[in-house]
Amino acid sequence: MKTLSRFHRLVPVVIAALLVVVGRAAETPREHLSLDANWKFHLGDDWPDALHLENSGTGSGPASEGFSDAYWRVVNVPHDWAVELPFDQAADGSHGFKALGLKYPTNSIAWYRRTFELSKQDEAKRIWLTFDGVFRDATVWVNGWCVRHHEGGYYPFREDITDVVHMGGRNTIGVRVDASKVEGWFYEGAGIYRHVWLDKTAPVSIAPDGIFVQSKFEKNIPQGSPEIAVEVRLLNTLTNAATATVNCEIISPDGKPLKKFSGLEKMPRASQSVVQLGTKLSSPVLWSPESPKLYKLVTAVSVADKLVDHKETVFGIRTVGFDKDKGFLLNGKPYRIQGTCNHQDHAGVGAAIPDALQEFRVNKLMEFGCNAIRTSHNPATPELLEVCDRLGMLVMDESRLMGSDSLNMKKWEDQIRRDRNHPSVAIWCIANEQFAVQDTPQAANVARTMQDYVKQLDPLRPVTYASPEDNVFRGVNSVIEVRGWNYHLGPHVDQYHAEHPNQPNIGTEQASVVGTRGIYTNDRPHGYVAAYDVVWPGWTTTAESWWSFFAVRPWLSGAFVWTGFDYRGEPTPYWWPCINSHFGMLDTCGFPKDVFYYYQSWWTTNTVLHLLPHWNWPGAEGRDVLVEAFSNCRQVELFLNGASLGKQAMKPNSKLSWHVKYAPGTLSAKGFNGAGKVIAETKVETTGEPAQVRLTPDRATTKADGEDVSVFTVAALDTQGRMVPVAQNRIHFSIRGAGKIIGVGNGDPSCHEPDIFLEKVPERPMALDNWRWQLAKIPKNRSALPEYGNGFDDSAWNRIEAKASGAESTIKTPETTAIYRAHFTLTEEDLQGSGVQICFSGCDDDGWYFVNDKFVGESHDWQAQPVFGIKEAVHAGDNVIAVGVNNGMGQGGLNPNVTVKILGHATPPPWSRSLFNGLAQVIVQSTKDAGEFKLTASADGLVPATASVQTQPGAPRPSVP
Ligand code: GAL
Repeated sequence: MKTLSRFHRLVPVVIAALLVVVGRAAETPREHLSLDANWKFHLGDDWPDALHLENSGTGSGPASEGFSDAYWRVVNVPHDWAVELPFDQAADGSHGFKALGLKYPTNSIAWYRRTFELSKQDEAKRIWLTFDGVFRDATVWVNGWCVRHHEGGYYPFREDITDVVHMGGRNTIGVRVDASKVEGWFYEGAGIYRHVWLDKTAPVSIAPDGIFVQSKFEKNIPQGSPEIAVEVRLLNTLTNAATATVNCEIISPDGKPLKKFSGLEKMPRASQSVVQLGTKLSSPVLWSPESPKLYKLVTAVSVADKLVDHKETVFGIRTVGFDKDKGFLLNGKPYRIQGTCNHQDHAGVGAAIPDALQEFRVNKLMEFGCNAIRTSHNPATPELLEVCDRLGMLVMDESRLMGSDSLNMKKWEDQIRRDRNHPSVAIWCIANEQFAVQDTPQAANVARTMQDYVKQLDPLRPVTYASPEDNVFRGVNSVIEVRGWNYHLGPHVDQYHAEHPNQPNIGTEQASVVGTRGIYTNDRPHGYVAAYDVVWPGWTTTAESWWSFFAVRPWLSGAFVWTGFDYRGEPTPYWWPCINSHFGMLDTCGFPKDVFYYYQSWWTTNTVLHLLPHWNWPGAEGRDVLVEAFSNCRQVELFLNGASLGKQAMKPNSKLSWHVKYAPGTLSAKGFNGAGKVIAETKVETTGEPAQVRLTPDRATTKADGEDVSVFTVAALDTQGRMVPVAQNRIHFSIRGAGKIIGVGNGDPSCHEPDIFLEKVPERPMALDNWRWQLAKIPKNRSALPEYGNGFDDSAWNRIEAKASGAESTIKTPETTAIYRAHFTLTEEDLQGSGVQICFSGCDDDGWYFVNDKFVGESHDWQAQPVFGIKEAVHAGDNVIAVGVNNGMGQGGLNPNVTVKILGHATPPPWSRSLFNGLAQVIVQSTKDAGEFKLTASADGLVPATASVQTQPGAPRPSVP
C-alpha cells in the first residue's frame, strides 16, 4: 500500500483551509478596484460653462456623457501635469517656477475623463468612487450628474454614486481640476496625483474606513495581555431593517489564526450602526521600527447567514506616549525620534509617486538611521503609511490647516479615520507655524477643539503642533498636549521646560541646513551651495549644532530634520535659476549629500567614515582645500598620497576638519576605535575624464503589473571604472521590452531640463472657411441624403462669411434642421501620415457628420467639440464634409470654426538628462508583460551602457478595465 508522506497528508488540509479563507473573500460582494489606468486627459479650461450647475444631471462639455474625448491623451494616474510644464522665471518660485497658477490660466485647469461598465449583476450593490488626492479644487461628474466639489488638495474624498450610475451599461466620469491656487509654499503638483478606486459593496456593508482596531494595555504599559478593541461601523442602505452578524478573527504576524469573536447588530432601515467588539490577546508581538510585526484583523459581516462583507485590516500592537522627562516612549521605553520632514515630490515624477517609489524613498531614509517621517505639511498618500507600517518607520501625521469650522473638522475626521489603524502613525500634528494667530486665545480654542476630537476618535495617540516660537506659553502652546519645537536652540528651550515641566516636548522641525550634492563653494549665479554643513538660513542651524543640542536632552524626544529629500520649490537661500530646495540629506533623486553621513554616523550603529570633498580640482594645485570627515570612529587619520596629515579625536555628535594643500592623487583616511585599532578606511581619488556610462538598477526584477518601478542610477566612469564626480555629460536613454520610462532627474537644483518627455505626433492644421448652408428637412439619424454627397451642387446655398462668435446661431428657430457643407483639398503626401482628423468647435444641438458620402460620427451636446478620425474616408484631391444639424431649443447651428488636421508619424520621446556631478536617475515602470526590459544610456564620446531588468509575472491589482 502506498503511504502518504507527512507533507502529502498536510496538503489537502492546507488547501481546504485556503479555500475557506479565499472562498469567503470571493463570495462577498465587496470589490475594491483600481481606477488608475486609461484616463483621458486634456490640459486647458476650454469648457468654462461646464461649471454652470443650474439643473441636476446636466453636466455639459467633458462633464457630459456624450462628449467625445477620442483624441485626448491617455494617462494613467497617479499623474502630475505640473511636472510636465516648463519653468518660467516669472512664475511662483516657492512652487518651483513652474508655469502654473493664476498667471497661467491655460496651464492650470485640466480635465480627466474615464468610462467604466457596470453589469446587471451589480444592480443590488452600492458603488463608491474614491479619490485619494487631487491637486486641487476638483469637480466630479458621473453620467452628467455633478457628484462632488472638493477643494482640498491633500484630502481623500469619496462618493456613493449608486443613484446615478447605469447598471448594466456604460458610465462616464468627468473631473475638472483647477490647480490655479496654492495651498502650501512648496511644490504641490497638479492633477489626480494619487490613486482612484471604484468599490462595490452589498447594501449592508462595512462603512468606508469603518474599522478601528486598538490595542489597549493597562495604563498604556505594554505588559500582559492587551485588549484588542474593535469598532465596526456598518451601513444599511436597504429599505428594510436587517440584523447583521459581525465575525472577527485575528491573524498573527506569521499568518496563524489566533482569536475569533463576534457580535450581532439590529439595524433599522437606511441606518448606520457602530458595533463594539473585543478580545484579550496573550503574548502579543510588539510592533517597532526594529521589528515591524503586523497583525491582521479579518472582519466578515453576514445577514441571514449570507456573507455580505469581508475586509482585512492590518494593524500593529504597540504603545506610544510621552514622558515629561524621558521624552517619546515606544512600547513603554524612551525612543529617540531621528526623524525627517518630507514633501511628496520626487525627481522625474513630481507629486505622482508610484507606490514602489514610496518604498524606495523610505528605504533611502532608513539608510542613514531615520526612524520617523513627518508628513509635512499635509496628510500623506495612504501607500506611504503602508510602507512605513511594513518597513518600520514612525510617522507624524499632519493636517494641512488648523481650523475648527465644520469643513476643516470633517477633513480632520476623515484623515484620522483613514490613518488610525496604522501602527506607524505615532502622533498627530494639528498644524505647522500658524504665525498670524498661534498666540491668540482663538487659536488656543481651535487647537483644543482639534485635539479633543483626536481624543474622541483615537484616544491613545498624542497630539502636537509644530510651533516656531521660543519660550512662549500662549495660545496653541498653552493647550497642546506635546509642545512642538520648530527651530530655536538655546537657553530659552531649557527655560521653557523648567517653567512647564509637565508638558512633554518634541522637535517638530530642525536644521534646515542647505547644501548641494557635490558642490563645495557657494555659487550664486548657478544657485549652488557648499555641502559642508556650513550654510543655513537665519532661522535655522547646522546638522551638528541642532543634533548636539538635542542628543543631550532626552526630554526633547529627538526631532524631525527639515528635510530628508530635496523638493521642488523653496529654492533657499537663492532664487532663480535655482528651482528646488537644498535642505535634504538626499537630493530630489535620493542621491546622498555629504551631510547624509553625518546623520549616519550618529543615528546608526554602522561604522561610518566619509571624506569630503571630491578630489578633482585641476588648476588648484597648492591651494588650501577644506577637508572634512563625517565619522563615528573615535579617531581619524588623514593621508594625502600616503603621507599622514594628522590624527584627530572625534567628539560625539561632531565632525573633523583639516586644511590641505591640494595635490592630485589619493586622499585617504583611517578610522580607529577606542583601542586604537583601525576599523574603517576610505579614500577619494582624482579621476580621469568620463569614458563610459554605467547604469545600475535598484533591483534585478520587478513585477509585471503595470505599476512597479525600477530606479536606475546613471553614472559616468573614467577608464579605470571610477565615478567622475564632476561629470556633466548629457545622456540619452532608450528602452526596449516590457517597461516604459516615466521620468528622469539628476538632483541639480538649478536644472531646467524636462523631467518628462512626451511622445509627439506632428500635425498640420488647415482651417475650413468655405462653408455653405441651407435649412432642410433631414432625418435625425445617420441616414445618407444626396445633400451629404460629393456630387451635390451647393453653389446656390447661403455662405457663412465670418467666423465671428455666435456664427453658430445660423438656425433662428427651435426644432429646425439644416445642412452645412464645405470642401477641402488633400495631397498624396497628406495621406502618408498617421491620420487625418476633423475638429469641430461646436454644434448646437445634434449633428450627423459625413465625409465624401461616408458617415463619420455624430454629436448631441452643444458644448462638445467633436473630433473625428477621417483617414478612411478621404482621398487626394477635393473632399466634401457635410453635416446635418438639428437645433433643439433657442437658436443653433454648426460653428464654422472647423479645422482639418494632417497627422504625421509619432516620434518616440527623446528621453535624455545631463549628469549632475556624475549622477542622474531614470525611473522605469514595468508594463503588464512578463519578460524583461533593457534600458540603454549613451552619450557623445562615452562607451554606452545597457542594463536589463526581469519583469516577473505578478498579479496586477484588481482593476476596472
Ligand atoms: C519652516 C517651514 C517649512 C520650510 C522651512 C524652510 O519654517 O515650516 O515648511 O519652509 O521653514 O526652512
